[in-house]
Amino acid sequence: MSFSVDNVRADFPVLTREVNGLPLAYLDSAASAQKPNQVIEAEAEFYRHGYAAVHRGIHTLSAEATQRMENVRNQVATFINARMPEELVFVRGTTEGINLVANSWGNSQVAAGDNIIISEMEHHANIVPWQMLCERVGAQLRVIPLNADGTLQLDVYHQLLDDKTRLVAVTQVSNVLGTENPVAEMIAAAHQYGAKVLLDGAQAVMHHTVDVQALDCDFYVFSGHKLYAPTGIGVLYAKDDILQAMPPWEGGGSMIATVSLKDGTTYAKAPWRFEAGTPNTGAIIGLGAAIDYVTRIGLSAIAEYERSLIHYALGELANVPDLTLYGPADRLGVIAFNLGKHHAYDVGSFLDNYGVAVRTGHHCAMPLMAFYNVPAMCRASLVMYNTHEEVDRLVAGLKRIHQLLG
Ligand SMILES: Cc1ncc(COP(=O)(O)O)c(C=O)c1O
Repeated sequence: MSFSVDNVRADFPVLTREVNGLPLAYLDSAASAQKPNQVIEAEAEFYRHGYAAVHRGIHTLSAEATQRMENVRNQVATFINARMPEELVFVRGTTEGINLVANSWGNSQVAAGDNIIISEMEHHANIVPWQMLCERVGAQLRVIPLNADGTLQLDVYHQLLDDKTRLVAVTQVSNVLGTENPVAEMIAAAHQYGAKVLLDGAQAVMHHTVDVQALDCDFYVFSGHKLYAPTGIGVLYAKDDILQAMPPWEGGGSMIATVSLKDGTTYAKAPWRFEAGTPNTGAIIGLGAAIDYVTRIGLSAIAEYERSLIHYALGELANVPDLTLYGPADRLGVIAFNLGKHHAYDVGSFLDNYGVAVRTGHHCAMPLMAFYNVPAMCRASLVMYNTHEEVDRLVAGLKRIHQLLG
């Protein structure tokens, strides 16, 4: 089936909206993507006809809901090519997945004198949990610096690795620069020192296929809401032997085998050991529908379309006077920029007047803003439902702002 942006757009009801009297150009999908009817309907259908609490019930609706939830775990396993569904933990999102690893695996495996390596381009979700862990256990946090074009200084990365490195935690794709990091090479290097590797896949899973076995990463995390699924659901992948050895993090219902006030508690096996409490089943069903949706269109067709759109946008943006672009020429999903000396908030609100929605601010990447010595940037996201015409409107808007504000 050939890719048709018109067919894709027809599935996303919000894209027919107007903003400030103009058609909405939604260029903020890296923050959160819009939802197709297929996802909205799947979640609504579950609440209308299939809703019940999972795990604890013998009755039909509960058994069905449990089965549907476990079916989605199977689907995710196929989607990222995990060896088995038991390697996948449902979490609230990337942030919770990373905090789970930092608290469960980190507290038990990282000790004083060890080090953890992250990069200067990380989202706060992949910085702060490691800072907190290092503080707790007395470990050192090491940071891979950036080149001016927004790629990692790989030679420095290789120097930072040593036999005290317990973990390398890096993003697969930068949420600000769109840089796709050479993670396969980085993982192989980390494994030579016996270090584990966590990949933050929040900005990767929607742009191309992910194969955790081929990558050989130890942990992989992503959020559903950037993959056209509902908010409040995400996935942590961990290799089976690592996950089964990890101690519980949150305690409560569903994560136990037995609880005795006299003899204490024994725990369920992973992944259920890490899923305390009532899960967000509606969002899990929605995640399954979102994976079906992108799989039906085909991630390679999506990737091809998005690459051509980014290429077109970079060419057109080069004609905007006084525009500073951040990031490498070859990038995925996002284009960050500033116009002259104007604050990103001013540029963003002018663009909103023209119906063009971009993200403005530090993008939860303050160290990256510090590297470029700016307080904020604008960021336009380009995904499968965006069009060349929307790029033209972004470019025209920026030219107009430059004319008005100088
Ligand atoms: C690269 C990256 N990591 C982590 C996150 C955090 O994701 P969430 O807020 O869904 O937990 C984001 C979201 O913006 C992101 O872009």
